[in-house]
Amino acid sequence: MVIAVDGPAASGKGTIARALARHFGLPHMDTGMLYRAVALSMFRFGGDPGNEFEAVRACEGVAQVDPGDPELRSEAVSAIASRISAYPGVRSALLERQRGFAASSDGAVLDGRDIGTVIAPHASAKLFVTASPEVRAQRRVRELLERGMPGHYEDVLIDIRARDERDSHRQAAPLKQASDADLLDTSDMDIDEAIAAAIRLVEARLAHA
Ligand code: CDP
Ligand code: CDP
Repeated sequence: MVIAVDGPAASGKGTIARALARHFGLPHMDTGMLYRAVALSMFRFGGDPGNEFEAVRACEGVAQVDPGDPELRSEAVSAIASRISAYPGVRSALLERQRGFAASSDGAVLDGRDIGTVIAPHASAKLFVTASPEVRAQRRVRELLERGMPGHYEDVLIDIRARDERDSHRQAAPLKQASDADLLDTSDMDIDEAIAAAIRLVEARLAHA
């Protein structure tokens, strides 16, 4: 059983995906962390995000990045991740790791941008989680402040809109709702309501499979 959870920044997809993994007893992969790890290694070692060759080379260092590194979540790294994730060479360098995880015998929950469309097109259930840019910017600011990092609402909103634009309009695996995905708009939901709605949608899909 594979559950695909896609959506834009701070829609709640990561929290929802972790909750689904717990509920159904499945392993979970946050695929955005792979792109963030590439971005962080470029940020640290001075790679040029405008250069696809350098970005592809940085994919080799993904396994060395500490997944607990707080810098992975910084806005600077988010912006680089969104730029380098548009390169087909970067996407293909990270593809097998994600497909392999999705194919694990226990089943899996993956969250990202292209899980339902590219990584696991035959997933048992697909959710496309969204919320208005303003709500998502508020969530991200709260999260940054909680982590002791700087977060200014106007700047974060600009960054979120820029990432939405880049992620949705790139040629390679753009962010879009798969035709067979259920839409979950969490703008007016708190996180517990969003998780409960996600579980209901997935259970309904599995019941009709
Ligand atoms: O948590 P948030 O939605 O802010 O970001 P993320 O999921 O960690 O992803 C960071 C960036 O990686 C996104 O802006 C995308 O450009 C890219 N990404 C992607 O292209 N494909 C994925 N499956 C996951 C992330
Ligand atoms: O993975 P993604 O960037 O889509 O979002 P997330 O990391 O799951 O959620 C971003 C923040 O928004 C977290 O602090 C969530 O608890 C919060 N959130 C919320 O307050 N209400 C929701 N309905 C969804 C997320």
